Amino acid sequence: MLRRLHPEQPDSFAFTSANQAWAEAQITKYPEGRQASAVIPLLWRAQEQEGWLSRPAIESVADMLGMAYIRVLEVASFYFMFQLQPVGSVAHIQVCGTTSCMICGAEDLIAVCREKIADKPHVVSPDGKLSWEEVECLGSCTNAPMAQIGKDYYEDLTSESFARIIDDLTAGKVPVPGPQNGRYGAEPLKGLTSLTEYESGRTQYNASVQLAADIGDSVKRIDGTEVPLLTPWLGEDGKTASTKASEKPPAAPAAPKPAVKQAEEAKAAKPAAKPAEKADATAEEQPHTLQAAREGGADDLKLLKGVGPKLEQTLNELGFYHFDQIAAWTPAHVAWVDARLKFKGRIERDGWIEQAAQLAAGEETDFAKRAKDEGTYEK
Ligand code: FES
Repeated sequence: MLRRLHPEQPDSFAFTSANQAWAEAQITKYPEGRQASAVIPLLWRAQEQEGWLSRPAIESVADMLGMAYIRVLEVASFYFMFQLQPVGSVAHIQVCGTTSCMICGAEDLIAVCREKIADKPHVVSPDGKLSWEEVECLGSCTNAPMAQIGKDYYEDLTSESFARIIDDLTAGKVPVPGPQNGRYGAEPLKGLTSLTEYESGRTQYNASVQLAADIGDSVKRIDGTEVPLLTPWLGEDGKTASTKASEKPPAAPAAPKPAVKQAEEAKAAKPAAKPAEKADATAEEQPHTLQAAREGGADDLKLLKGVGPKLEQTLNELGFYHFDQIAAWTPAHVAWVDARLKFKGRIERDGWIEQAAQLAAGEETDFAKRAKDEGTYEK
Protein backbone atom coordinates (compact mmCIF):
# COMPACT_ATOMS: atom_id res chain seq x y z
CA MET A 1 0.00 0.00 0.00
CA LEU A 2 1.33 3.42 -0.92
CA ARG A 3 1.81 5.72 2.03
CA ARG A 4 1.49 9.25 0.76
CA LEU A 5 -0.37 12.46 1.50
CA HIS A 6 -4.07 12.37 0.70
CA PRO A 7 -5.04 14.40 -2.40
CA GLU A 8 -7.66 16.32 -0.46
CA GLN A 9 -6.26 18.33 2.41
CA PRO A 10 -7.74 20.81 4.88
CA ASP A 11 -6.51 24.41 4.74
CA SER A 12 -5.03 24.44 8.20
CA PHE A 13 -4.39 22.57 11.42
CA ALA A 14 -4.14 23.79 14.99
CA PHE A 15 -3.91 21.92 18.25
CA THR A 16 -6.63 22.79 20.74
CA SER A 17 -5.18 25.03 23.43
CA ALA A 18 -5.08 22.10 25.88
CA ASN A 19 -3.35 19.86 23.34
CA GLN A 20 -0.95 22.70 22.50
CA ALA A 21 -0.01 22.97 26.18
CA TRP A 22 0.38 19.19 26.31
CA ALA A 23 2.60 19.18 23.22
CA GLU A 24 4.80 22.00 24.52
CA ALA A 25 5.19 20.14 27.81
CA GLN A 26 6.23 16.96 25.96
CA ILE A 27 8.96 18.88 24.15
CA THR A 28 10.53 19.91 27.47
CA LYS A 29 11.21 16.24 28.24
CA TYR A 30 14.13 16.26 25.86
CA PRO A 31 17.54 17.98 26.18
CA GLU A 32 18.27 21.17 24.27
CA GLY A 33 18.83 20.38 20.62
CA ARG A 34 17.00 17.06 20.83
CA GLN A 35 13.44 18.35 20.53
CA ALA A 36 12.93 16.30 17.36
CA SER A 37 12.63 13.31 19.71
CA ALA A 38 9.09 14.49 20.46
CA VAL A 39 7.97 13.96 16.86
CA ILE A 40 6.03 10.73 17.41
CA PRO A 41 4.11 11.86 20.53
CA LEU A 42 3.15 15.11 18.81
CA LEU A 43 2.05 13.41 15.59
CA TRP A 44 0.09 10.91 17.64
CA ARG A 45 -1.68 13.64 19.57
CA ALA A 46 -2.51 15.43 16.31
CA GLN A 47 -4.03 12.19 15.06
CA GLU A 48 -5.90 11.63 18.31
CA GLN A 49 -7.38 15.10 17.90
CA GLU A 50 -8.29 14.92 14.20
CA GLY A 51 -8.52 11.19 13.54
CA TRP A 52 -5.84 11.34 10.83
CA LEU A 53 -2.72 13.27 9.84
CA SER A 54 -3.21 15.96 7.24
CA ARG A 55 -0.38 17.82 5.56
CA PRO A 56 -1.06 20.98 7.64
CA ALA A 57 -0.88 18.83 10.80
CA ILE A 58 2.45 17.33 9.74
CA GLU A 59 3.82 20.77 8.87
CA SER A 60 2.55 22.24 12.12
CA VAL A 61 4.37 19.55 14.13
CA ALA A 62 7.50 20.14 12.03
CA ASP A 63 7.34 23.88 12.78
CA MET A 64 6.95 23.23 16.50
CA LEU A 65 10.03 21.01 16.50
CA GLY A 66 12.11 23.06 14.08
CA MET A 67 12.27 20.08 11.69
CA ALA A 68 12.17 20.05 7.91
CA TYR A 69 8.70 19.07 6.68
CA ILE A 70 10.09 16.13 4.76
CA ARG A 71 11.63 14.66 7.94
CA VAL A 72 8.26 14.63 9.71
CA LEU A 73 6.52 13.30 6.62
CA GLU A 74 9.06 10.46 6.60
CA VAL A 75 8.05 9.51 10.14
CA ALA A 76 4.33 9.83 9.45
CA SER A 77 4.50 7.78 6.27
CA PHE A 78 6.79 5.09 7.75
CA TYR A 79 4.61 4.03 10.68
CA PHE A 80 1.32 2.41 9.74
CA MET A 81 -0.24 3.57 13.00
CA PHE A 82 -0.47 7.00 11.41
CA GLN A 83 -3.48 7.44 9.16
CA LEU A 84 -2.69 9.59 6.13
CA GLN A 85 -6.26 9.74 4.87
CA PRO A 86 -9.53 10.81 6.48
CA VAL A 87 -11.14 8.21 8.75
CA GLY A 88 -14.69 7.74 9.98
CA SER A 89 -15.96 10.56 12.17
CA VAL A 90 -17.03 8.03 14.82
CA ALA A 91 -14.36 5.34 14.58
CA HIS A 92 -11.68 3.73 12.50
CA ILE A 93 -11.86 -0.06 12.89
CA GLN A 94 -8.68 -2.13 12.67
CA VAL A 95 -9.34 -5.83 12.12
CA CYS A 96 -6.47 -8.18 12.88
CA GLY A 97 -5.88 -10.50 9.94
CA THR A 98 -2.85 -12.40 11.19
CA THR A 99 -2.61 -16.16 11.82
CA SER A 100 -4.64 -16.75 15.00
CA CYS A 101 -7.34 -14.31 14.02
CA MET A 102 -7.35 -15.54 10.42
CA ILE A 103 -7.97 -19.17 11.38
CA CYS A 104 -10.58 -18.10 13.94
CA GLY A 105 -12.68 -16.03 11.55
CA ALA A 106 -10.98 -12.72 10.65
CA GLU A 107 -12.13 -13.10 7.05
CA ASP A 108 -15.75 -13.17 8.25
CA LEU A 109 -15.14 -9.94 10.17
CA ILE A 110 -13.65 -8.32 7.10
CA ALA A 111 -16.71 -9.37 5.13
CA VAL A 112 -18.84 -7.55 7.73
CA CYS A 113 -16.70 -4.43 7.26
CA ARG A 114 -17.10 -4.65 3.49
CA GLU A 115 -20.84 -4.98 3.83
CA LYS A 116 -21.50 -2.41 6.56
CA ILE A 117 -18.75 0.18 6.07
CA ALA A 118 -17.11 0.20 2.65
CA ASP A 119 -16.00 -2.36 0.12
CA LYS A 120 -12.40 -1.28 0.38
CA PRO A 121 -10.23 -0.48 3.41
CA HIS A 122 -9.40 3.17 4.17
CA VAL A 123 -12.62 4.31 2.52
CA VAL A 124 -15.08 6.20 4.70
CA SER A 125 -18.63 4.80 4.90
CA PRO A 126 -21.35 6.67 2.97
CA ASP A 127 -22.61 8.29 6.19
CA GLY A 128 -19.05 9.36 7.03
CA LYS A 129 -19.07 7.65 10.41
CA LEU A 130 -16.82 4.62 10.01
CA SER A 131 -13.79 3.36 8.14
CA TRP A 132 -11.77 0.15 8.43
CA GLU A 133 -8.53 -1.58 7.60
CA GLU A 134 -6.86 -4.94 8.12
CA VAL A 135 -3.83 -4.83 10.40
CA GLU A 136 -1.13 -7.22 11.58
CA CYS A 137 -1.23 -9.08 14.91
CA LEU A 138 -2.33 -6.81 17.74
CA GLY A 139 -1.05 -9.18 20.43
CA SER A 140 -4.40 -10.45 21.58
CA CYS A 141 -4.14 -13.82 19.84
CA THR A 142 -5.65 -15.82 22.72
CA ASN A 143 -8.85 -13.85 22.18
CA ALA A 144 -8.92 -14.23 18.39
CA PRO A 145 -10.51 -13.00 16.27
CA MET A 146 -10.37 -9.43 17.41
CA ALA A 147 -10.40 -5.83 16.27
CA GLN A 148 -9.11 -2.58 17.68
CA ILE A 149 -11.70 0.15 17.62
CA GLY A 150 -10.43 3.55 18.68
CA LYS A 151 -8.25 2.93 21.70
CA ASP A 152 -9.70 -0.41 22.80
CA TYR A 153 -9.76 -4.06 21.84
CA TYR A 154 -12.94 -5.97 21.03
CA GLU A 155 -12.15 -9.67 21.31
CA ASP A 156 -13.62 -13.14 20.80
CA LEU A 157 -15.70 -11.73 17.97
CA THR A 158 -18.15 -13.46 15.67
CA SER A 159 -19.76 -12.00 12.57
CA GLU A 160 -22.92 -11.41 14.61
CA SER A 161 -21.30 -9.72 17.62
CA PHE A 162 -19.07 -7.64 15.35
CA ALA A 163 -22.03 -6.53 13.22
CA ARG A 164 -23.85 -5.55 16.41
CA ILE A 165 -20.89 -3.49 17.58
CA ILE A 166 -20.75 -1.67 14.25
CA ASP A 167 -24.49 -0.96 14.42
CA ASP A 168 -24.11 0.37 17.96
CA LEU A 169 -21.26 2.65 16.94
CA THR A 170 -23.28 3.99 14.03
CA ALA A 171 -26.14 4.65 16.44
CA GLY A 172 -23.86 6.69 18.70
CA LYS A 173 -23.33 4.05 21.38
CA VAL A 174 -19.95 2.73 22.53
CA PRO A 175 -20.16 -1.01 23.30
CA VAL A 176 -18.11 -2.32 26.21
CA PRO A 177 -14.74 -3.51 24.86
CA GLY A 178 -13.03 -6.79 25.74
CA PRO A 179 -14.16 -10.37 25.12
CA GLN A 180 -17.60 -10.52 23.50
CA ASN A 181 -18.30 -14.18 24.31
CA GLY A 182 -18.56 -13.92 28.10
CA ARG A 183 -14.92 -14.61 28.81
CA TYR A 184 -13.45 -12.43 31.55
CA GLY A 185 -9.96 -12.18 30.08
CA ALA A 186 -7.70 -14.66 28.34
CA GLU A 187 -8.53 -17.69 30.53
CA PRO A 188 -9.41 -21.05 28.92
CA LEU A 189 -12.78 -21.08 27.16
CA LYS A 190 -14.08 -23.60 29.69
CA GLY A 191 -13.18 -21.38 32.65
CA LEU A 192 -10.34 -21.01 35.12
CA THR A 193 -8.34 -24.08 36.04
CA SER A 194 -6.03 -22.32 38.49
CA LEU A 195 -5.98 -19.20 40.68
CA THR A 196 -9.70 -19.68 41.14
CA GLU A 197 -9.49 -18.10 44.61
CA TYR A 198 -9.11 -14.70 42.95
CA GLU A 199 -12.36 -15.02 41.05
CA SER A 200 -14.58 -13.67 43.83
CA GLY A 201 -12.79 -10.35 44.48
CA ARG A 202 -12.37 -9.17 40.94
CA THR A 203 -13.84 -6.09 39.29
CA GLN A 204 -16.79 -6.26 36.91
CA TYR A 205 -14.49 -6.38 33.88
CA ASN A 206 -10.87 -7.39 33.46
CA ALA A 207 -8.32 -4.65 34.21
CA SER A 208 -8.03 -3.30 30.64
CA VAL A 209 -11.74 -3.28 30.01
CA GLN A 210 -12.48 -1.84 33.44
CA LEU A 211 -10.09 1.02 32.77
CA ALA A 212 -11.59 1.56 29.32
CA ALA A 213 -15.09 1.60 30.80
CA ASP A 214 -14.03 3.96 33.60
CA ILE A 215 -12.27 6.41 31.27
CA GLY A 216 -14.90 6.08 28.56
CA ASP A 217 -12.81 7.53 25.71
CA SER A 218 -12.71 4.44 23.43
CA VAL A 219 -13.61 6.33 20.28
CA LYS A 220 -13.49 9.90 21.55
CA ARG A 221 -11.28 12.41 19.75
CA ILE A 222 -8.80 13.73 22.29
CA ASP A 223 -8.91 17.51 22.82
CA GLY A 224 -6.50 17.55 25.75
CA THR A 225 -9.01 18.22 28.49
CA GLU A 226 -9.48 14.56 29.40
CA VAL A 227 -6.80 14.33 32.08
CA PRO A 228 -4.84 16.99 33.93
CA LEU A 229 -1.59 17.96 32.26
CA LEU A 230 1.10 16.17 34.27
CA THR A 231 4.70 17.36 33.98
CA PRO A 232 6.56 15.69 36.86
CA TRP A 233 9.90 16.18 35.09
CA LEU A 234 9.46 19.96 35.38
CA GLY A 235 9.45 19.95 39.17
CA GLU A 236 6.79 21.16 41.58
CA ASP A 237 6.72 24.75 40.32
CA GLY A 238 6.18 23.63 36.71
CA LYS A 239 9.54 24.99 35.57
CA THR A 240 12.56 23.03 34.44
CA ALA A 241 14.16 21.48 37.49
CA SER A 242 17.49 23.16 38.14
CA THR A 243 20.65 21.23 37.42
CA LYS A 244 24.08 21.69 38.88
CA ALA A 245 25.37 22.75 35.46
CA SER A 246 22.82 25.53 35.13
CA GLU A 247 23.68 26.84 38.60
CA LYS A 248 27.34 27.36 37.72
CA PRO A 249 28.43 31.01 37.40
CA PRO A 250 29.33 31.89 33.82
CA ALA A 251 33.03 31.70 33.06
CA ALA A 252 34.98 34.55 31.47
CA PRO A 253 34.21 34.88 27.76
CA ALA A 254 36.72 33.34 25.41
CA ALA A 255 38.44 35.56 22.85
CA PRO A 256 36.37 35.65 19.65
CA LYS A 257 37.60 33.13 17.15
CA PRO A 258 36.00 31.85 13.96
CA ALA A 259 33.72 28.98 14.97
CA VAL A 260 35.06 26.68 12.24
CA LYS A 261 38.53 27.03 13.74
CA GLN A 262 37.13 26.49 17.21
CA ALA A 263 35.41 23.30 16.01
CA GLU A 264 38.70 22.01 14.55
CA GLU A 265 40.54 22.77 17.78
CA ALA A 266 37.81 21.16 19.86
CA LYS A 267 38.13 17.98 17.82
CA ALA A 268 41.88 17.85 18.55
CA ALA A 269 41.45 18.62 22.25
CA LYS A 270 40.56 15.85 24.71
CA PRO A 271 38.49 15.31 26.62
CA ALA A 272 35.84 17.51 24.94
CA ALA A 273 33.84 19.81 27.20
CA LYS A 274 30.19 18.87 27.70
CA PRO A 275 27.88 20.92 25.37
CA ALA A 276 25.88 22.39 28.26
CA GLU A 277 28.99 23.64 30.02
CA LYS A 278 30.37 25.09 26.81
CA ALA A 279 27.15 27.01 26.18
CA ASP A 280 27.20 28.38 29.71
CA ALA A 281 30.76 29.59 29.27
CA THR A 282 30.10 31.55 26.06
CA ALA A 283 29.13 35.21 26.20
CA GLU A 284 26.80 36.54 23.54
CA GLU A 285 27.86 38.94 20.82
CA GLN A 286 25.62 40.10 17.99
CA PRO A 287 26.95 39.06 14.58
CA HIS A 288 26.84 41.39 11.60
CA THR A 289 23.29 41.37 10.26
CA LEU A 290 21.66 42.71 7.10
CA GLN A 291 18.42 44.61 6.58
CA ALA A 292 17.74 42.58 3.44
CA ALA A 293 19.38 40.08 1.14
CA ARG A 294 22.17 41.38 -1.06
CA GLU A 295 21.64 42.00 -4.75
CA GLY A 296 21.15 38.64 -6.42
CA GLY A 297 18.86 37.37 -3.70
CA ALA A 298 19.13 35.36 -0.52
CA ASP A 299 20.79 31.97 -0.34
CA ASP A 300 18.52 28.99 0.23
CA LEU A 301 19.29 28.47 3.92
CA LYS A 302 17.15 25.33 3.89
CA LEU A 303 20.16 23.64 2.30
CA LEU A 304 21.65 23.65 5.80
CA LYS A 305 20.79 20.47 7.66
CA GLY A 306 18.23 21.22 10.36
CA VAL A 307 16.90 24.43 8.75
CA GLY A 308 13.30 24.18 7.56
CA PRO A 309 11.12 26.92 6.07
CA LYS A 310 10.14 28.26 9.48
CA LEU A 311 13.69 28.44 10.74
CA GLU A 312 14.85 30.03 7.49
CA GLN A 313 12.22 32.72 8.00
CA THR A 314 13.45 33.28 11.57
CA LEU A 315 17.04 33.57 10.38
CA ASN A 316 16.01 36.07 7.71
CA GLU A 317 14.12 38.09 10.32
CA LEU A 318 17.24 38.13 12.47
CA GLY A 319 19.19 39.53 9.48
CA PHE A 320 20.88 36.43 8.04
CA TYR A 321 20.36 35.74 4.36
CA HIS A 322 23.65 34.31 3.14
CA PHE A 323 25.86 31.31 3.81
CA ASP A 324 28.96 33.49 4.25
CA GLN A 325 27.26 35.36 7.10
CA ILE A 326 26.70 32.09 8.97
CA ALA A 327 30.15 30.76 8.10
CA ALA A 328 31.67 33.77 9.86
CA TRP A 329 29.93 33.23 13.20
CA THR A 330 32.20 32.99 16.22
CA PRO A 331 31.16 31.02 19.32
CA ALA A 332 29.91 34.29 20.86
CA HIS A 333 27.84 34.92 17.72
CA VAL A 334 26.47 31.38 17.94
CA ALA A 335 25.45 32.06 21.55
CA TRP A 336 23.65 35.25 20.42
CA VAL A 337 21.75 33.49 17.63
CA ASP A 338 21.06 30.44 19.79
CA ALA A 339 19.45 32.65 22.41
CA ARG A 340 16.99 33.87 19.77
CA LEU A 341 15.99 30.48 18.41
CA LYS A 342 13.22 28.46 19.96
CA PHE A 343 15.43 25.44 20.51
CA LYS A 344 19.03 25.95 21.47
CA GLY A 345 22.03 23.85 20.52
CA ARG A 346 21.00 23.00 16.98
CA ILE A 347 23.61 25.24 15.31
CA GLU A 348 26.38 23.19 16.83
CA ARG A 349 24.55 19.88 16.66
CA ASP A 350 23.76 20.14 12.95
CA GLY A 351 27.07 21.80 12.05
CA TRP A 352 25.56 24.86 10.35
CA ILE A 353 28.82 26.79 10.32
CA GLU A 354 30.84 24.05 8.66
CA GLN A 355 28.06 23.45 6.13
CA ALA A 356 27.66 27.19 5.46
CA ALA A 357 31.41 27.54 4.91
CA GLN A 358 31.30 24.79 2.28
CA LEU A 359 28.22 26.17 0.56
CA ALA A 360 29.59 29.74 0.61
CA ALA A 361 32.71 28.42 -1.12
CA GLY A 362 30.52 26.94 -3.86
CA GLU A 363 31.00 23.37 -2.67
CA GLU A 364 28.19 20.84 -2.19
CA THR A 365 27.34 19.18 1.12
CA ASP A 366 25.83 15.70 1.36
CA PHE A 367 22.68 17.15 2.90
CA ALA A 368 22.29 19.91 0.30
CA LYS A 369 22.66 17.36 -2.48
CA ARG A 370 20.03 15.11 -0.92
CA ALA A 371 17.69 18.05 -0.29
CA LYS A 372 17.93 19.11 -3.95
CA ASP A 373 17.37 15.55 -5.16
CA GLU A 374 14.29 15.22 -2.96
CA GLY A 375 12.58 18.02 -4.87
CA THR A 376 10.60 20.98 -3.69
CA TYR A 377 8.61 19.66 -0.75
CA GLU A 378 10.62 21.59 1.85
CA LYS A 379 10.45 24.84 -0.09
S1 FES B 1 -3.22 -12.85 15.41
FE1 FES B 1 -4.79 -11.44 15.84
S2 FES B 1 -4.19 -10.57 17.69
FE2 FES B 1 -2.56 -11.89 17.22
